[in-house]
Amino acid sequence: MKAILGVILLALVAGAVPMAFAWRSALEPVDPPPPASFDRASIMRGAQLALIGNCNVCHTAASGPAYAGQRPVHTAFGTIYATNITPDPETGIGRWSEAAFTRAMREGVDRRGRHLYPAFPYDHFTKASDEDLKSLYAFLMTREPVRAETPANQLPFPLNLRPLIVVWKWLFFEPSRFEPDPAQSAELTRGAYLVRSLGHCGACHTPRNVLGAEKKTQFLSGGEAEGWHAPALNADSPSPRAWTADSLYRYLRHGLVEQRGIPAGPMAPVVHNLAAAADDDVRAIASYIASLMPAVRPERERSIDVLIASIQRPEPGATRVAQSGTDPQSLRQGELLYQGACAFCHDQGRQVSSSGEAMYLPLSTALYLPTPRNLIRIVSEGITPPDGAPGRWMPAFEGAFTDEQLAALAIYLRARYTDAPAWTKVGDAVRKARE
Ligand code: HEC
Ligand code: HEC
Ligand code: HEC
Repeated sequence: MKAILGVILLALVAGAVPMAFAWRSALEPVDPPPPASFDRASIMRGAQLALIGNCNVCHTAASGPAYAGQRPVHTAFGTIYATNITPDPETGIGRWSEAAFTRAMREGVDRRGRHLYPAFPYDHFTKASDEDLKSLYAFLMTREPVRAETPANQLPFPLNLRPLIVVWKWLFFEPSRFEPDPAQSAELTRGAYLVRSLGHCGACHTPRNVLGAEKKTQFLSGGEAEGWHAPALNADSPSPRAWTADSLYRYLRHGLVEQRGIPAGPMAPVVHNLAAAADDDVRAIASYIASLMPAVRPERERSIDVLIASIQRPEPGATRVAQSGTDPQSLRQGELLYQGACAFCHDQGRQVSSSGEAMYLPLSTALYLPTPRNLIRIVSEGITPPDGAPGRWMPAFEGAFTDEQLAALAIYLRARYTDAPAWTKVGDAVRKARE
């Protein structure tokens, strides 16, 4: 926090930020445009783009009306409430012209000229095409207007001062357009465009610096979202089985792919939306992500096969106790817990769609991540199956294990079912995941 304030103060004292840049004019309010003034094809296109942009995920409160806002977005700096983006003239965007909407999406400035916090991923949306923004506007302005005031943000002084957002923008943000690579196929170009603009995959999958800006040179190399680790989607992909364009497509579209995990945590609503988005767009996203990932490596696939075979034919000493930093006491405790609470389902392998059979854990990306956080969250919160996957349900173990037992389980699973180095500071990760 001190570092953040330091940078902000320095920038201000040095007068580095031109004040002309800081001040933005208000745009005239308009009478809410009648829904009949929008083209039907444009509204439908906007509906599909809104799914890819996850607008509903942030802008809808738990069991609240769609797009009416009031949902808290938790950031490392405090809580910012997503606003009401229904066309209500008083509390929503009913009086916003298309120009005002486009400016918000491209520049992070609201109709009245106030700077918006980058918790609203306009650093990605800025790359959307004019036509796509027009369609999104048509879609939002034809929703049912809902009267809903946005609660006040909970941010410490001085981060609660909106004019200071300009320092952040000056350091890290530039309105820009998507620049296609002329050497790429039409499908990869479309995929790259969606991933980088409306899809904002990098908002979760790219690491951020202390000021909360994405590290541009580490695009999709693994980030954080709501206390979960979002795995790398590039050459650093930790997935035990290599992804392909086809398996990615099925994961993003249906959430259930053989030999791979089910989307959990903040990825679950993303996949829920993509299930209803335009099919070509989901295919394009999958092809582009696959193009960033490593190719299938036969020796890697074989080592996973060996780990799976060792579940089916347990051999003495199969647990590599020699793994550096692994404490034998935790391994024994973890093994007992696994046998008692997990093996019943997970040693079966995922068969058709009946309950009581679940994926072999050597296939779970959660065990290969740089942190045990996702594993601990999955065990605590369980898995709620994605639509259309009956029986793919795992109970929540919240409260069933002590912190020490959860840590032992994580240490054991990493040693027993992966060939990755032991996790460090497992106890800290358990405490954090439990907060
Ligand atoms: C990760 C969460 C998140 C997602 C996804 C998201 N928004 Fe937002 N949005 C926010 C937050 C938070 C704010 C409020 C920012 C502030 O108060 O400074 C906001 C503000 C806005 C505003 C400004 C409204 C106002 O009253 O000032 C518009 C317009 C908007 N979002 C549209 C969209 C659209 C369209 C999409 C989908 C393409 C979208 N948002 C997706 C979090 C999100
Ligand atoms: C709100 C944050 C968020 C957004 C936005 C997001 N993801 Fe994810 N994603 C996650 C998290 C967290 C996980 C890990 C969840 C799990 O283990 O089930 C994940 C997992 C994945 C995985 C599985 C990786 C593996 O090796 O197991 C893929 C593939 C993926 N995301 C692709 C995407 C793509 C493509 C987009 C953009 C269209 C996207 N994600 C947008 C948070 C996000
Ligand atoms: C009633 C059966 C059942 C029990 C008991 C159970 N699980 Fe699961 N688990 C599942 C199902 C179903 C999934 C979803 C994946 C699938 O379809 O195979 C899952 C998913 C997971 C995943 C995520 C896999 C991924 O990458 O998406 C992990 C990790 C996991 N379980 C660990 C555990 C641990 C550790 C225990 C014991 C504390 C446990 N499970 C107990 C059924 C179970």
